[in-house]
Amino acid sequence: MTRRGSGDLPLEVRNAYYKLPDLETERLKVRRLALDDADDMFAYASSEEVARYVLWTPHRSRDDSLAFLRMTIPEYDDPHIRRHKWGIVLKATGRLIGTIDIFKSPGDNAGEIGYAIGTEYWGHGYVTEAATAVVRLGFEHMALNRIEARCNPANTGSARVMEKVGMSYEGTIREQVFVKGRYVDLKVYSILKREYDAGKDKGSTG
Ligand SMILES: CC(C)(COP(=O)(O)OP(=O)(O)OC[C@H]1O[C@@H](n2cnc3c(N)ncnc32)[C@H](O)[C@@H]1OP(=O)(O)O)[C@@H](O)C(=O)NCCC(=O)NCCS
Repeated sequence: MTRRGSGDLPLEVRNAYYKLPDLETERLKVRRLALDDADDMFAYASSEEVARYVLWTPHRSRDDSLAFLRMTIPEYDDPHIRRHKWGIVLKATGRLIGTIDIFKSPGDNAGEIGYAIGTEYWGHGYVTEAATAVVRLGFEHMALNRIEARCNPANTGSARVMEKVGMSYEGTIREQVFVKGRYVDLKVYSILKREYDAGKDKGSTG
């Protein structure tokens, strides 16, 4: 029997990360990035605090943000790329406040999410809201079976987002990445499709 996802092609040949839609939540637009986002991106991506626990270093100029956008935007039209990055835009102001992405992780039908927003927007539930929409897309549109996320053990805010979207802590991978001059442990969280479905039935997820 041929399994089918939401696209026309069988799952075996369809790239689940290709042509993903923009998303909308109560307070956010989660949409494709554009070159016009360079100023807003530089505003948060230049922050040492935002970059503290991520793999990238702070942008030093608007040109760094522009170069990043020039690299990312063509990926939307590449059928072979297994990742998708959205801009997180506050509907109330129309400003880009950060990004969220989903990319293929090693398992079968498994994806990983990552996110970052500017410090002045922390603690308002924005990333939880965006990540909830991306998890829903992963299970309901991309036919994923597992969605995971990883964070530095010191990044309590990120771990909390993972818990709030229904993920469970699986364990800590010791010194998994060499970043900014040292080996760093990563905590792994995940949610499976059947757990997502069970949460939806109870009305707590999705
Ligand atoms: C981590 C981050 C994504 C959280 O985004 P956010 O929009 O502030 O998160 P939310 O408002 O949805 O908060 C989710 C939960 O985390 C908690 N939280 C958020 N920031 C926190 C912090 N710095 N310390 C402790 N808890 C924090 C919130 O209180 C909330 O929990 P609660 O509902 O139990 O109170 C954001 O701080 C960020 O962009 N950091 C820099 C980039 C980064 O580290 N990305 C993750 C890499 S793995």
